[in-house]
Amino acid sequence: MSLIPDETVEQVRDSADIVGLIGESVELKRTGSDYRGACPFHGGTHRNFSVIPKKGRYYCFVCHESGDVFTWLMKRTGMDYPTAIREVARRTGIVIPERPGRTGPDPLEPLFGAVAAAHDWFTRRLLESADATVARQYLEGRDIPLETAAIHGLGFAPPDKSFLAAMRELGVKDPVLLEAGLTAARDDGTVSPRFRARLLFPIHDLRGRVAGFGGRLLGPGEPKYLNSPESAIFHKGKQLYNLHQAKGAIRKEETVILVEGYFDVFRLLLAGVDHVVAPLGTALTADQAALLKRYAPSATLLYDSDQAGLRATFRAGDELLRHGIRVRVASLPPGEDPDTLVRAGGSAALEPVLRDALDLLERKIQLLERRGWFEGVEHQREALDRLLPTIRAAADPITRDLYLKAVSDRTEVSREALVQQLAARTGRPPVPAMDASSRPAAARHGGQATPRPARRRQAEFSAEGDLLRVVIKDRGWLARALEEVPPHWFETPALREVYDALGRSPENAGSPVFLEQLSPEALKAWAWLDSVEPKYGTPDLDLTYAAACRTLEARPLRRQLDALVKRRQEKLGPDEFDTVIREEQRLKQELASLSPEELLKRHMRRGRLDAR
Ligand code: UTP
Ligand code: MN
Repeated sequence: MSLIPDETVEQVRDSADIVGLIGESVELKRTGSDYRGACPFHGGTHRNFSVIPKKGRYYCFVCHESGDVFTWLMKRTGMDYPTAIREVARRTGIVIPERPGRTGPDPLEPLFGAVAAAHDWFTRRLLESADATVARQYLEGRDIPLETAAIHGLGFAPPDKSFLAAMRELGVKDPVLLEAGLTAARDDGTVSPRFRARLLFPIHDLRGRVAGFGGRLLGPGEPKYLNSPESAIFHKGKQLYNLHQAKGAIRKEETVILVEGYFDVFRLLLAGVDHVVAPLGTALTADQAALLKRYAPSATLLYDSDQAGLRATFRAGDELLRHGIRVRVASLPPGEDPDTLVRAGGSAALEPVLRDALDLLERKIQLLERRGWFEGVEHQREALDRLLPTIRAAADPITRDLYLKAVSDRTEVSREALVQQLAARTGRPPVPAMDASSRPAAARHGGQATPRPARRRQAEFSAEGDLLRVVIKDRGWLARALEEVPPHWFETPALREVYDALGRSPENAGSPVFLEQLSPEALKAWAWLDSVEPKYGTPDLDLTYAAACRTLEARPLRRQLDALVKRRQEKLGPDEFDTVIREEQRLKQELASLSPEELLKRHMRRGRLDAR
């Protein structure tokens, strides 16, 4: 680890005077909000070198050199990274706490170095190389000027393997490329670039170092977007796209706009909206919410307004509420995403959408209302069940109070009853799988400790059942599962059959016609599913669903991990051993990124608090 705390580095960068620093050696003239001068990197004579104080960056339109105050010093004076930070700190008067026991260089530095070299190469491809015509045309087709793409460091990964040779030439070692997630090794030992024929969005950490990429396919195919894998420097559940650049604007605006995709962020940036970020292809995580809380007390969710988008909105919304962030929901016209909306109508089209954003709970009530959920006592109960998790999520006491009042007014259920309901434990207490290993196994299995794989198989089997119970209970969840859950996640034949039948005719679920088509085994499974409540009870269908999905999604990874562990116990040469260990680490990281454990832990904690 570098010994200068991340927060300090950010503080130093944010308070640095980039114009003053570069102005010491380059004659700069103001043009609008930027400054222009002759580029010292390629020794230009025209004013093609621009310094953009708002972004804290410099960029040359001719040689494409770009960077921030730190890279400026590193490239111009040969300082190393920590020295550059200290130098800027000295100039801005920030005191960097010296920690005793400084030893050796940052072990992650080689990974960042490899990603930086790759990034540089990818951006140059996009701007210069003949085989990137397809990417340049693609950008043009999406109304994105190449210059803007360049300033923001977009890149192009060619379809061939030329990346490998280029990195070798730059002296980046193969294992480092692998560890940085830039290449993939197949079983037969051949190595190939991870990103091919894709337009690349660089993903920066808070220090502004590129940590990974999101790559959009330029033609048809799957997956549409490919991200860097988890690595020691890239964590898709802990970082946010564009946060490094947006954080100043977020603090200034005292709010952040959250969108779903890279292009959405990019389009808003083009339109002059800077306080915008996106998660990295996954639902918003607790870590990401905690990160945002550092910068803003409130957020606006600007997601697609289709079913999937709405569910993502409410999931993200509850997550933000749990971190004490106030949440508003902006509604896009059907079929639009922020990219298409702003592309067609500019920021003028965005303005009313943001202005009309509703508080998260109000938006939930509005949707339930439109669907007639407040008519009839039976419905009301279910409407309440959908609203309670959001009230419960509100960590901020004032928000919680307002929510209680709003729901009580709307449903005519007394505030006291709501409070009581919030405090009630639902169903049996959750016993997450993670606790299984810390519980004395002998207590449950007649003195015979169960081997871990068997216990896991049991948990995986239960997850199949849990998932089906949620979708049987609620049509909305069924629709969502049919989009998100591939049938092969169900390995128990009878349960798979039930899921397939649900997929064929979701509208008939549970009807006589539906039951008639099931085999006797599947019918028995159906009766069993139907007779047991979902794991965490009705108010927490989302938790049951999420936990089950994660368990099932993790299953193949866990199997691969088992196989590796087995291999490691065989006699291996040192190289092979290394590869196995590295692969193990990669899998573990990937598993950690889908682990439901955070979610469950939080749920348990909440349960305990509520029980008091
Ligand atoms: P969308 O599918 O909504 O795409 O994914 P988009 O952002 O509108 O992209 P364009 O406009 O078709 O290019 C939203 C986000 O989900 C992640 C990406 O981060 C994407 O920006 N995603 C999507 C993936 O990670 N993988 C995928 O295969 C698809
Ligand atoms: Mn889009």
